[in-house]
Amino acid sequence: MGTLLYIIFFHVLGAIIWVGGMIAIRFAVHPALQNIKDDEVRLARTLEITGRLFALVAPFIVILIASGLYLASVFGFRGHTDLSMIVHVKEAIWLVMALNYGAMVWLRFKAQSYFIGGNFMMAKKYLAPIAKYMLPLNIFLGVLALYFGLVLRGF
Ligand code: HEM
Repeated sequence: MGTLLYIIFFHVLGAIIWVGGMIAIRFAVHPALQNIKDDEVRLARTLEITGRLFALVAPFIVILIASGLYLASVFGFRGHTDLSMIVHVKEAIWLVMALNYGAMVWLRFKAQSYFIGGNFMMAKKYLAPIAKYMLPLNIFLGVLALYFGLVLRGF
């Protein structure tokens, strides 16, 4: 029981930080950033905030898949039972979220290079899809993974 408690603790902590972090940045920080009218200041702060968010969640992405696989094996969600299918759905959700995260890190890196080179137009162009599509997609998928986690719990 002891080890399992810590594994579930870190699985849920990872979910809180990854999904909650994205929600806070997208719905509380992003709208407030838009009130900064100076392009250079707004872009600099956007790059800093996304950089800090992505660094913060990186270890928890790894913790989520590792703890999830461990839990699935401990609870015996194997073969082709209903619950094992839900584990596979969660694995697929995690994979899409991790790839989407990687794409966001890449876009942010490109935007940072343009920003340093003084090309604010291109920096903006590379940052735009992160707030518009990519964070909302990962928030939606994250909430879905959370829901399926509770189904696996037996509710
Ligand atoms: C993508 C992000 C993920 C999120 C946000 C997430 C979230 C959650 C949450 C909130 C729970 C409920 C914990 C509880 O009440 O006990 C849970 C349980 C669970 N998750 Fe995940 N999860 C994710 C990924 C995964 C992955 C990739 C796997 C498997 C490879 C997985 C396997 C499990 C299992 C087996 C449980 C059941 C634990 C139990 O019965 O207590 N999860 N997850």
